[in-house]
Amino acid sequence: MKRWYKTLLILFAALTMGAFVYLGWAWFSNERSQLTDDLNRRARIIAKSLNRTFVKAIKQEASAHDIEVLESISEQGRTLGYFLCGVDGTPVLQTMIFEGVPYCEIIKTERGEKISQVENFGFERSAGSFVHIYSTPLLSKDKTVLGVAGIVHDASYIHDQMKTAFLWMTLSMALVALLISAATYFVSRLIFQRSVNEFISWVKEGNSVPKSVMSTLSLLKPVGREFTRLNAKLRSAQQTAQEVSQSKTDEELWTPVKLKAHVTSQIGEKKLIVVSNREPYIHTKEKGVVHVMHPASGLVTALDPVLKATSGLWIAHGSGNADQDVVDEENKVWVPEKAPIYQLKRVWLTKQEEEGYYYSFSNEVLWPLCHATHERPTFDDSAWTTYNRVNQKFCNCIAEEFSKKDSPHILIQDYHFSVLPKMIREKRNDAVIGLFWHIPWPILETFQICPWKREVLQGMLGANILGFHLSSYCNNFLNTVNALLPVRIDWDRQAIIHEGGTTYVKPFPISVQPWSERNLPEEATIQADTESWRQQLELGKTRLVVSVDRLDYTKGFSERLDAIKRFFENNPAYCGKITFVHLAAPSRTHIPRYREFDDRIEKKVDDINWTFGTEGWKPILFLKENHPPYKVYLFLRMAEVCLVSSLADGMNLVAKEFIAARENNDGVLILSEFAGAILELHDALCVNPYACQDFAETIRIALEMPHAQQVERMTRLKKQVLTNNVYKWASDLLTELTHPVHASQATATKTNLSKRS
Ligand code: G6P
Repeated sequence: MKRWYKTLLILFAALTMGAFVYLGWAWFSNERSQLTDDLNRRARIIAKSLNRTFVKAIKQEASAHDIEVLESISEQGRTLGYFLCGVDGTPVLQTMIFEGVPYCEIIKTERGEKISQVENFGFERSAGSFVHIYSTPLLSKDKTVLGVAGIVHDASYIHDQMKTAFLWMTLSMALVALLISAATYFVSRLIFQRSVNEFISWVKEGNSVPKSVMSTLSLLKPVGREFTRLNAKLRSAQQTAQEVSQSKTDEELWTPVKLKAHVTSQIGEKKLIVVSNREPYIHTKEKGVVHVMHPASGLVTALDPVLKATSGLWIAHGSGNADQDVVDEENKVWVPEKAPIYQLKRVWLTKQEEEGYYYSFSNEVLWPLCHATHERPTFDDSAWTTYNRVNQKFCNCIAEEFSKKDSPHILIQDYHFSVLPKMIREKRNDAVIGLFWHIPWPILETFQICPWKREVLQGMLGANILGFHLSSYCNNFLNTVNALLPVRIDWDRQAIIHEGGTTYVKPFPISVQPWSERNLPEEATIQADTESWRQQLELGKTRLVVSVDRLDYTKGFSERLDAIKRFFENNPAYCGKITFVHLAAPSRTHIPRYREFDDRIEKKVDDINWTFGTEGWKPILFLKENHPPYKVYLFLRMAEVCLVSSLADGMNLVAKEFIAARENNDGVLILSEFAGAILELHDALCVNPYACQDFAETIRIALEMPHAQQVERMTRLKKQVLTNNVYKWASDLLTELTHPVHASQATATKTNLSKRS
């Protein structure tokens, strides 16, 4: 039942009550004024008929008969008698029974010192009874006021009638109030009961209580919140139990349950806070309907299962147009929606903040600087200022989660937050902070062109642990810091001893989650969906080569297209038999460099399709949109070859996703020698994407590789990826982070560099 409905009901009850009070009061006033009017009229008639006699009497000219006439009005019905007062208010004459009752005084006191020139009336309590007094001026022929004549009526019947009416009215209003209250109570109870039933059905289904239900149940809000929390814990425990039995079969494999047990043993019940720019679930609204989108991001792919395993808190930029609609008052939402297990806290950024911090400094300075693909960074002072301001905003948001007794454990992700570790350290010296850099770290000569190089490095050194994918990135970083900051490097322990303490710099090659954990449908459905995609894209019987990337210049799209062109030129027999499917997710399209890149690639694809395509066959299918994980999985399974042609790449998880998706242990991976993953995936066919002829030839070799060799290689690759999965990555990183030696650095006093060196 909607909240507005309840409000309307209460409003209706209040209005009905108000209307009753108003009507009662109106009736009461009307009755009283009618009775008063009757008495006024009656008194006026008597006063008029006796006017001449009153004038005589006030002039002391009244005969005995006149006095008798005047006396005769007393005790007639409700008329009690008359009184006459002089102009100065002194009593002149009055009905005998009024002997001793100071009527002239009463009207003088009540109606002013002077005798009134106009008629007056009112009620008085006199000599123990309730009377109506009507007074009118007595005028001579020349209109001078001679005095006042008053007619007195017994008004106790009005008083009695009003008293009775008042009593009845109060009683009936009390009855109406009682009836309305009872009706409101029963209707509210009915509504509340219905909401409680709805609430219970959500509880029974084991889901979190949705915001729409909670908003009708303000009283149950705390219960709902507690329930959602308990439910997440329960779900996590259930998963753990399931996976314990599974993991017994393979003790070597890192699983969510093993990771969870590991993290708990390291940080106890303390909550792990993960911070990243990109959020794992984006709520968007189209035509009033809210959808959940999974962004194309390696970082998100890697960390979502970690958060699910540890049931921590993820803080990220809320970028969806319906993100604000689904969060609670702390800007938090439980995710994933269908089986909530951890909380996502959203930070809101203005357009100007997003522009300076994300598009400009992160993606136009640090991204090209660290990838070093001959794209010149664009340095801008105001972007640097905004980047710092947004890092501070995240810092404040994180600080809201600090508990007084436990030191917070924070795992920051990526180049969007290079100065955040130092900011957190300044707020909480005992914080245990890890920063994982998901992109490469370049050589000193490349990095040192950055105008804010020292500030960026100092910001990063606020962390206890700095993680990179490869040892070479760690070494580049240590060299950079050594050259640019007054620090001492302990090369054996890979540690930087600086003024604020010690920061350890270690490699942690990131990986993926097994596809079997990702709620895939039954095999029959997968087969049917595969067939349906083939038909939809009119693939016929062609063999597929797949690529999955964000549309980014670092991914080597252009070089890959050159190699494909060369491949068809060199091997025309393959025309009509092979289709290259590119699942390309649009990315950072607000940046002109990305838009131009996108146009260039589209043109190049068109050119190849025009040159080699035939009526029923297109050599390249360029599918540009945000592809959901299940669709990516289908294409990774459907293809025979996967092409990864990065010009620079911290790791590249698509290569590992392809391997993890190969159900039959076949297929060939062509991997750029500039992707971090090449150091682990020895059985991939390694290419230099700039070497067009070699690249084209490698594609041919991959397509012609005998099945037995494919299986041999893929089996080894799969073992490597599944053994060194994302849970192992997280566990290695968290083990380092919570290592007593490293964590203690957080509380250590400032290092005296001169003594140590
Ligand atoms: C890279 C970065 C990630 C980022 C991803 C997607 O992999 O290391 O931090 O999430 O690109 O980029 P986007 O700008 O869309 O978040």
